[in-house]
Amino acid sequence: MASSPSPISQPPHMQTKPGNGNSTAVAIVSIVATVALSFLLVIALYYFYLRRKSQQKQSFSQMSQEFQISITQHMLPAMHVPHIEAQVFTYKQLHFATSNFSSANMIGCGGFGSVYRGVLPDGRVAAIKQLDIAGKQGDHEFRVEVDLLSRLHSPYLLDLIGYCADQDHRLLVYEYMPKGSLQEHLYLDGKSPNLDWGRRMRIALDAARGLEYLHELVNPPVIHRDFKTSNVLLDDNFNAKVSDFGLAKLGSDKINGLVSTRVLGTQGYVAPEYALTGHLTTKSDVYSFGVVLLELLTGRVPVDMKRSPGQGVLVSWALPRLTDRERVEDMVDPVLQGQYTLKELIQVAAIAKMCIQPEADYRPFMTDVVQSLPTEPHSQVAESSPNCRLKYQTSIPSCDRSITFMTCLPCAWKS
Ligand SMILES: Nc1ncnc2c1ncn2[C@@H]1O[C@H](COP(=O)(O)OP(=O)(O)OP(=O)(O)O)[C@@H](O)[C@H]1O
Ligand SMILES: [Mg+2]
Repeated sequence: MASSPSPISQPPHMQTKPGNGNSTAVAIVSIVATVALSFLLVIALYYFYLRRKSQQKQSFSQMSQEFQISITQHMLPAMHVPHIEAQVFTYKQLHFATSNFSSANMIGCGGFGSVYRGVLPDGRVAAIKQLDIAGKQGDHEFRVEVDLLSRLHSPYLLDLIGYCADQDHRLLVYEYMPKGSLQEHLYLDGKSPNLDWGRRMRIALDAARGLEYLHELVNPPVIHRDFKTSNVLLDDNFNAKVSDFGLAKLGSDKINGLVSTRVLGTQGYVAPEYALTGHLTTKSDVYSFGVVLLELLTGRVPVDMKRSPGQGVLVSWALPRLTDRERVEDMVDPVLQGQYTLKELIQVAAIAKMCIQPEADYRPFMTDVVQSLPTEPHSQVAESSPNCRLKYQTSIPSCDRSITFMTCLPCAWKS
């Protein structure tokens, strides 16, 4: 029998038992496979990591885009208004504009500080308000807040031209209103009044449009917080503009965690729920608007404890009269005699009544008020029908408030 050729001989230390070669190959293959798999796994993980990162980056840029859009909406709300950036002034510029903040240039003084007439470097006349809030407001916070407010532009809002946040100085630069505030014209202390019924109604409508813009055309809405006759300013033709919107926020201060009285606005104008709970909504402004409307109707300041007993607080005195057809005329400012129709008076009294009602939810929106105020006083001289009865807000919480408001007004209105 022929013997099979002998294998190539190996040195004894290299000689393996039969089957050993196979297991080495298996070991090598499995090591290589493991390394390759791990490598693939690492690559896959790295790929997913990169993908996730790019998604995050995308969603962040989308988010910042959305943020930009919302800010832009804030800057350019609903109306087609030019985007005018707030101008930043140095203290030196404003010092020069007001001749060293001279008393001759001082035009008023309010809760935030003094107001000066000044001429800006570009020749424009401006009202410069020197705020007495130094130290309370952080530089950045002040700039952001004022920058946002200065981007709100409407024919019915006082334009904030710019501001100064130089070191500790905080100043606001506004357009100048030559006729000053409604308060000055309404309470002339014996001087001949120059605000007739028609002018008062137009001022009410302008101011209502200013608040409507803040509440309903700006996103998010701006609550004025301190709407009153001294914050309604008049130009040469008695066109009215609302001023100092959103400012109470800047002057806000907390004492032991409680909001100070400064934030609570001005006595006589503050809605009861805000005074009691600090809960602030656009309906608080609607209440204040109702008080101003009452002032226009009656020529009386909101609070004067020197008046006869029961007459000190305008709202309390006026409320029962506003709903009483027999007494509504008695409450009208005597200088307005013969300037209005009963229909107009009933209309305006009804609106005032709705605005000052204690239940905030039942107050109208400013859009309702704008649509309901007489646009052209005396233009539709028509007495209200004998059947006309004033109906006021019912207690139907589920019904559409604006519809309720419109239908609650005297039936002759809108005819
Ligand atoms: N832009 C302006 N143009 C003309 N006069 C102004 C202007 N702003 C303010 N004034 C005058 O300065 C006065 C004081 O205004 P200021 O806003 O400081 O105080 P206020 O309205 O009385 O109270 P508050 O500080 O609570 O708003 C106004 O009554 C008005 O006569
Ligand atoms: Mg003011």
